[in-house]
Amino acid sequence: MALAEDQRLENPLLAGLPVSRRSEPCALVIFGASGDLTKRKLFPALYSLAFRQLLPEKFGIVGVARSEETDDEFRERMKAAVQEFGRDEFRKDIWEGLAEGMRYVRVEANEDAALDRVAETLTELDRSRGTAGNRVYYLAVPPDAFETIVGGVGKRRSAEGWTRLIVEKPFGHDLASALELNDLVHRYFEENEIYRIDHYLGKETVQNMLALRFANGIFEPIWNRQFIDHVQITVAESIGIEARAAYYEKAGAIRDIFQNHLLQLVALTAMEPPIDFTSDSVRNEKVKVLKSMHTPGPKNVVRGQYGRGYVEGEEVPGYREEPGVDPNSLTDTFVAAKLFVDNWRWADTPYYVRAGKRLARRETTIAIQFKRAPHPPFEELAAEGLRPNVLLINIQPDEGVSLAIGAKVPGQGLQIRTVHMDFLYGGAFRTDMPEAYERLVLDCMRGDSTLFTREDEVTEQWQLVDAIVAAWRRDRPSFPNYPAGAWGPPSSDDLLQRDGRTWRRH
Ligand SMILES: NC(=O)c1ccc[n+]([C@@H]2O[C@H](COP(=O)([O-])OP(=O)(O)OC[C@H]3O[C@@H](n4cnc5c(N)ncnc54)[C@H](OP(=O)(O)O)[C@@H]3O)[C@@H](O)[C@H]2O)c1
Repeated sequence: MALAEDQRLENPLLAGLPVSRRSEPCALVIFGASGDLTKRKLFPALYSLAFRQLLPEKFGIVGVARSEETDDEFRERMKAAVQEFGRDEFRKDIWEGLAEGMRYVRVEANEDAALDRVAETLTELDRSRGTAGNRVYYLAVPPDAFETIVGGVGKRRSAEGWTRLIVEKPFGHDLASALELNDLVHRYFEENEIYRIDHYLGKETVQNMLALRFANGIFEPIWNRQFIDHVQITVAESIGIEARAAYYEKAGAIRDIFQNHLLQLVALTAMEPPIDFTSDSVRNEKVKVLKSMHTPGPKNVVRGQYGRGYVEGEEVPGYREEPGVDPNSLTDTFVAAKLFVDNWRWADTPYYVRAGKRLARRETTIAIQFKRAPHPPFEELAAEGLRPNVLLINIQPDEGVSLAIGAKVPGQGLQIRTVHMDFLYGGAFRTDMPEAYERLVLDCMRGDSTLFTREDEVTEQWQLVDAIVAAWRRDRPSFPNYPAGAWGPPSSDDLLQRDGRTWRRH
């Protein structure tokens, strides 16, 4: 529903903004308000939205957690978080505008009655801030808290306005638990009210992938098996597990990164052009890709775990030495796979993907490697330094796109070398990149679920992961099998070498 003209005029700060990016009045309820995500990501994102006048004028925030805190203490803590983690200069007037609409509600764990207090606070915000019965509930809590909260808010839906639910990852830990979770949320919410976050999809560079493919006439005709030799997708982290051993021990790289971020990047790279950019059109195409991926055999999946080593010049402990980790842990901190998208466009074109912790550096890239020129009319020696064309999409850091092409080395004779045509996001647009959470929270408030994962996508993703993990149960890997600071175990290199290929040079 669009804002009425008189509502728009009430807020002079909205002047000049494109209508399409505004949200209707609403209240945002954050379950998990004392947690890390709220502090490091959500409040800095909300502040940046306020800074750009993208929040509705009639807006309120209710923080909910078990910790004891007053409204003012909550405001002070979040102010410090915005000052520490925000990307924009801190302006008192902007903060105070946001802080006025902030409330805090303390709950006991798994206590349904506490949700009455949340509902009362929301009614008060409707009166005092004009939030019109519109609600976004953000579940930034561990999965064991979901049931009480989802049931509690589901039973107390406001008679007026809309209700939306944002669910953080991980969405389940396998197919069965994801289906159970879907059943739970569907008991109270329609699918179009459920926003499953994969924050990678909120990254500008991930969306730029769609712009690159579908706004440029030159790529789509060659975006297929005839011209592309293979695709490499890397999601590399240099950090370890930090203080998240309890979660990571159960998840591993396959559930933490492969199941969601990596498979979403494959889907965006491989999908057919959607007929439009409505949420269903885009997600219909992504889910077709996920459905057409068959389970890789055990030879085509590599798992690893890091041992002691050096990252960026510093000695770091092995995974089994991290606090809270079982000294005999078999949890994977690295996974690589050769995947196939079995359809007309991609048949027999491998997608080599890898994700891991404590790798040499932080990097997320999609590399489209094209086939060699069919008949280069140069002497072999002249083209010795020439590699096949690669279109490299840098998702993080150094956001941008780079095309590797062959060029003549200046001077006598005809020597060919590979050079790079680069587009750097920051340089071209002279702006810093918005955080993914800014985009995603605002999209949800506007009712746009394009960049959220639909039920059938999650199901397909877990089906693939469950099949891989089932094969892992049959053998005992010899861990650790790569030192911190390497690019995974040697078997990851073998995966490509068997096919006469190598991972992109770093
Ligand atoms: N941190 C990140 O960057 C990140 C990134 C991606 C996804 N996530 C996901 O986001 C969720 C939250 O992560 P986090 O890092 O913020 O975790 P966290 O720091 O452990 O915070 C969890 C929050 O949940 C609250 N909580 C726990 N049990 C509760 C219950 N029964 N009822 C109500 N509140 C409860 C905790 O508050 P009290 O102890 O005060 O109750 C705390 O505010 C997790 O599902 C995580 O997987 C986090």
